[in-house]
Formats: sequence, structure tokens, C-alpha cells
Amino acid sequence: MEELLFWIKVLFVFLFTLVVVLKVGVLFWWRPRKIQGHFSKQGIRGPPYRFFIGNVKEIVGIMLKASSQPMPLSHNILPRVLSFYHHWKKIYGATFLVWFGPTVRVTISDPELIREILCSKSELYEKNEAPPLIKQLEGDGLLSLKGEKWAHHRRIISPTFHMENLKLLIPMMGRSVVEMLEKWKAMGEVEIEVSEWFQTLTEDVITRTAFGSSYEDGKAVFRLQAKQMLLAADAFQKVFIPGYRFLPTRRNINCWKLDKEIKRSLVKLIDRRKENACGSEKDLLGLMIEASNVTVDDIVEECKTFFFAGKHTTSNLLTWTTILLAMHPQWQVRAREELLSVCGGSREIPSKDDLAKLKTLSMIVNESLRLYPPTIATIRRAKADVELGTFKIPCGTELLIPIVGVHHDDATWGSDASEFNPGRFSEGVSRAARHPLAFIPFGMGVRTCIGQNLALLQTKLTLAIILNRFTFTLAPTYQHAPTVLMLLYPQFGAPILFQPLSAL
Ligand code: HEM
Ligand SMILES: *[C@@H]1O[C@H](CO)[C@@H](O)[C@H](O)[C@H]1NC(C)=O
Ligand SMILES: *[C@@H]1O[C@H](CO)[C@@H](O)[C@H](O)[C@H]1NC(C)=O
Repeated sequence: MEELLFWIKVLFVFLFTLVVVLKVGVLFWWRPRKIQGHFSKQGIRGPPYRFFIGNVKEIVGIMLKASSQPMPLSHNILPRVLSFYHHWKKIYGATFLVWFGPTVRVTISDPELIREILCSKSELYEKNEAPPLIKQLEGDGLLSLKGEKWAHHRRIISPTFHMENLKLLIPMMGRSVVEMLEKWKAMGEVEIEVSEWFQTLTEDVITRTAFGSSYEDGKAVFRLQAKQMLLAADAFQKVFIPGYRFLPTRRNINCWKLDKEIKRSLVKLIDRRKENACGSEKDLLGLMIEASNVTVDDIVEECKTFFFAGKHTTSNLLTWTTILLAMHPQWQVRAREELLSVCGGSREIPSKDDLAKLKTLSMIVNESLRLYPPTIATIRRAKADVELGTFKIPCGTELLIPIVGVHHDDATWGSDASEFNPGRFSEGVSRAARHPLAFIPFGMGVRTCIGQNLALLQTKLTLAIILNRFTFTLAPTYQHAPTVLMLLYPQFGAPILFQPLSAL
């Protein structure tokens, strides 16, 4: 009897091991081979899959090599910032298969197909699942929500970003910029690391957008969330143990404490706002308090998302545009002349209507978004077996849309694709390239950036005020090294030399 029991146990262990081995085999060996075959028949190839790690080793190697030193002062940044795409595109064509571990991705850079994914057949695709640590960073808000809950939140929050509401922010934004510039002016010619300053500025603006009249209290909440993000970002670089975030390590305990504190502050803030409800404020907080079916947790997550999605994107756009204008003084002159003709040499803060008339400035900002898009790529996942153009895409395949690759493509933008030429936007976005939808810095379709108007408004306003008071050039210490750490940023900062224009 004992012996029988023993053999039954052995049998179970054997079966269990067999199942595990089979599962591993299917997931890491059989399935990838099958998928490779499926795509190969359609003419889509790529670097060969390697057991378990896919192409990760090559990707890391290519990226490290590309970013090992600064590049010349050129805008041909694709080989540096999306090096694996640039590399394999030359070998396999723009549509190729690449393996992030056992996860397969197909790169899609044809604007016609991108339109299908993001617009005309968007219901067949969903956002991909971000890794837990990224999720902790970006918050479980609009950026990552899906289905009903996403639609509900998007509806509630969008009035915040209508122009009529945003224009109320202009005086506050303008004041922040002017105050800083007054300080510089007193110093004569100054060298400023602009990216830090733009971050502070953008943080103020985002705080206003999210918390309106509760600005000071909101600032405190954002400070706590920034701390939490630092912890998460730190772990992101160091820890790759699945389930690690559930262990009571010192970092995690700190994180949980911060979580509680954030929630407590927000609950207090919400109560206070409810008490002296001063009509309907259209900030994120006000709109979410008013809406039915929204919990405090939802508000916490949306605040995180705002902070995450809004801060570095806009400040990076401002940084790159300033660098570009410093590199191309003739466009500084043209933008300044336009300002003079629209605002008549006044040093008042430009109004919303003034800003709408600054077409050259808008062209410059768009050319900056084309060459240096802060978000360099996005991903979608096929929810079922789908047809994309003539391709048959199996359920679960991830589609990688290399925004920066689309923006730098000669075939679409012409042979001067890597040159700074704002003039290409002189007849508007849809005529700037050979395809009307080749310009997608904010994505497109239902999940297009909700903060686009805010980002463009703040960028144009800030640049207009700077151009009105200073000329600027690159500092001699500037090193051109566009780099990606989630977003596109200058690896060694952006030191710029500012010279005050004599008052009129
Ligand atoms: C230059 C500045 C910005 C750039 C380049 C940018 C870029 C993008 C892109 C490409 C997407 C679409 C992602 C995708 O389809 O996968 C997106 C979505 C989003 N952005 Fe922005 N963004 C900017 C500024 C902002 C600002 C200021 C906010 C303010 C809160 C913001 C909040 C969001 C949110 C909430 C989403 C998700 C929308 C949804 O899925 O419904 N962004 N952004
Ligand atoms: C409340 O939200 C949940 C999901 O967020 C949804 O399933 C439910 O239908 C909503 N109820 C109302 C009354 O809107
Ligand atoms: C710049 O891009 C924005 C966003 O796509 C667009 O609304 C605007 O009209 C563009 N301006 C010019 C001059 O192309």
C-alpha cells in the first residue's frame, strides 16, 4: 500500500513536470516558430527568434552602441533613438517581426495601416498591457484604462481641455514665464539649462489644470506622487523579480505609506472643495467630483496619469523647440517678425487670439514635433484574428507604431526629411507630407492625446514671450545627444545662451 502511494506520488510529480515542460515548450518554442512561419508566408520577416529571450539581447546591444557617444549637430536622429528599428528596417523592410522575449511585435509604419489601427478599425485593437512598474508610474487612468471605464472617464475629463477653459490659464502661464525672464534679464547674457526650467513651468501648469483653485493643496499631492514615481523608477532600473512589488521591502513599505498619504490628502482636498463649491470649476478635480460613479481611487489614479502624461512631454517639446531655434537663427528672426506684426511690439502677454494668428510659430512647433516627437512610439494589441490591409494578424500580436520613424521617412517626407524646414507646414498639416496622416505626434483616433491643446497653447505662449525678450544660441557646452528613457530628451541637458533684446 505504501509502495503504491509512493508510485502515485512519483507519477504526479512526473505528470506535473511534463505539463510544465510542455507549457514552456509551447510558449517559448512552438508558438514563436508557428508565428514566424505564419508571417513569413505573408512576406513579413525579422531577426530570428531565440529561445526565451527573443531579440532582446540584440536590441540592447544595438541601442547601447547607438547611444555610446553624442552625434553631430544633425536632425537625422532615427539611428540613435530607435536604433533597432533603423537597423532591421534596412534588412527586412519597414514591416518586420521583432521579439521582446516571447512577445511578438510587428512594426507598422505605413500611414494607411496606422489609420486602420488607430482610427477606422480601432475597435479591433486595444492598448497593450504595461508592465506593473510602468503602470505604477503612469497611474491606472486615461492612458491605460480600457472599454467602458475609459469612455466614461474620457467624457468626464474632456471639458478641462476645451479651448474656452484653457484660455483661462493664459494669464497664470504668462506670469510664470515673465517672472523667470525678468530674473535672467538682470544678469545680461546668461547660460541657462532650459530643460529644468521648463519642467518646473510645466508642473505648475499641470497642477492648475488638475486642481484649479486648490492649487496649493494639489501641489502637495503631486509632490507625494513625484516621490512615489522616483521609487518606482528606481525599482524599474534595478529589479526584475516577478511579484517583487508585493514583498514588504523598505522601498515597498515606503511606497504603500505614500499611497495612504496621497489618498488622505486627496480626500481632505475633495471635502474642502465640496464645502466651498464655488460654481462649476472645469479642472480635473472639479469635474471628477461632480461626476457620478467615480471613486476617490479613480481620482488618485487620474491625477497620477495627468502628472505623468503631461509634465515631461510638454517640457521636452519646449526644450527641443528651443534647441532647434537656437540652431536655426533665421527662423528665430522670422518668428520674432511675425510676433511684431501680430502683437505690435507690445510686451503684454499674448491673448488666445494673438496666439492663433502666430502661424510661423505654429509651423516651427510642428516641425519640432515632427523631428523630435516626445513620444517616439506607441503599441496596440490585436483583440482577435484581424485583417490589417492585406495582412492576416493573429489575436494577441502587438503592433509597434514607430512615430519617430514615420516622421523621418524619406518616402513620405521627401529627401529633406531630416532637415529642419518649418516651411513644409505652410499649407497645413495635411499637405506637409505625401500622406495627409504622416504627422502623428499626439497619436490619432479615439485615443488621441487629450492634452494636445494644452501642450500647444503652453508651448506657443512660452516661446512667444521668450522670443519677444531674448535672442538665443546654443551654449558651447551643448552636446547633441537625443536619447530615450520612455520619452525623447537631450541626454546631456540643454544649455542655451540668452541675450536680452534692448527694450523698444
Ligand atoms: C507635447 C506634449 C505631448 C505629447 C507629444 C503627447 C503625446 C501623446 C500621445 C502620442 C498619446 C497617444 C498614445 C497612444 O495612442 O498610445 C497621448 C495620450 C494622452 N495624453 Fe498626451 N502628449 C502631450 C501632452 C499631454 C498633456 C499636457 C497631457 C495633460 C494631462 C496629456 C495627457 C494625455 C492622456 C491622458 C492621454 C491618454 C488619452 C486616452 O487614451 O484617452 N498629454 N499623448
Ligand atoms: C459605473 O461604472 C461601472 C464601471 O466603471 C459601469 O459598469 C456601470 O455601468 C456604471 N454605472 C453607472 C450608473 O453609470
Ligand atoms: C500644427 O499641428 C497642429 C496639431 O496637429 C495643427 O492643429 C495645426 O494646424 C498645425 N499648424 C500648422 C501651421 O501646420
